Amino acid sequence: MTEPTLFIGGAGGKLGRRVIDLLRQRGHAGRIIAGTRDPEKLGHPEGVEVRRADYTDPAGLESALGGVDRFLIISTDQIGTRLANHLNAVAAARAAGVKELVYTSMPAPEAPSAISFAPEHLGTEQAIKASGLRYTILRMSWYTENLLGTLPGVLARGQWYTSAGDGRVSYVSREDCARAAAGALLRPAADRTYTVTGPAALTTREIAAEASRLAGRPIAVVDVGDEQLAAGARAAGVPDYVIENFIVAFDRNTRERKVASVTDAVESLWGERPISVADVLAANRAALLGAA
Ligand SMILES: NC(=O)c1ccc[n+]([C@@H]2O[C@H](COP(=O)([O-])OP(=O)(O)OC[C@H]3O[C@@H](n4cnc5c(N)ncnc54)[C@H](OP(=O)(O)O)[C@@H]3O)[C@@H](O)[C@H]2O)c1
Repeated sequence: MTEPTLFIGGAGGKLGRRVIDLLRQRGHAGRIIAGTRDPEKLGHPEGVEVRRADYTDPAGLESALGGVDRFLIISTDQIGTRLANHLNAVAAARAAGVKELVYTSMPAPEAPSAISFAPEHLGTEQAIKASGLRYTILRMSWYTENLLGTLPGVLARGQWYTSAGDGRVSYVSREDCARAAAGALLRPAADRTYTVTGPAALTTREIAAEASRLAGRPIAVVDVGDEQLAAGARAAGVPDYVIENFIVAFDRNTRERKVASVTDAVESLWGERPISVADVLAANRAALLGAA
């Protein structure tokens, strides 16, 4: 049997690049095609064909998908406008004769959700299921690397204001998301939805304790309500859009136990245990201390 031709959409991003590296490492014998808006930026990775692919250009995307068996649709970073683009990707895949789709979604996107972009993921999942193509949906938990944005400020202040209460987040490293996506591309799709998580779900206090230990600085976790959290962020000059859609929304989502489940998806798709939050933080100690 000939090995399937794999197509990675959004191949120029951090996740896409890593998926391609992993597919090459595993020695995929079929063709690997990298689709990106900017082929120049991607260069000429060995053993990989690079094609121009933009989800906002359905005709161009359909022709880029010619001869493809499995298509990884990496959700774009265009929050607010991306649902239409993801739907273009699904339609182009069907029109081009692609057989299987893999999609990077989020945990628990069903309504009601505190996360404003949840409907974009849910809408894409629904379109994929309605397409008649075989699929694997990967509901990626929040990247552990997101903490590298939050923790330097927390460590500098010595205080972590949160409305997440004792809610837990099953943070997953970007590397493990790439492993799950590569693993999904390497097997026939069985119309399954996985929630892709790290090895544990941690409370804010548990993460603070780990960061504090690594940095050698104390962190006091301060429990507040959503309104107080928003007021504090506003006083610190954070834009309203970020406060509403990220800071408060993410804590509320955590409090509502929407990102707390832990699964073995990484291990079952890739064959290796996922990396812990402690190990990701330790590998990024300089960034944690604000030195990088
Ligand atoms: N779970 C989480 O905590 C978390 C955190 C951040 C992001 N994400 C999601 O995961 C995705 C991948 O993460 P990442 O770290 O690789 O992000 P990233 O490096 O910022 O990459 C952004 C991605 O969006 C793609 N893109 C943007 N507009 C596009 C368009 N019109 N057509 C096709 N692709 C388009 C880019 O593809 P090209 O540049 O190659 O065209 C690239 O793959 C993000 O885009 C976002 O949806 C999840």
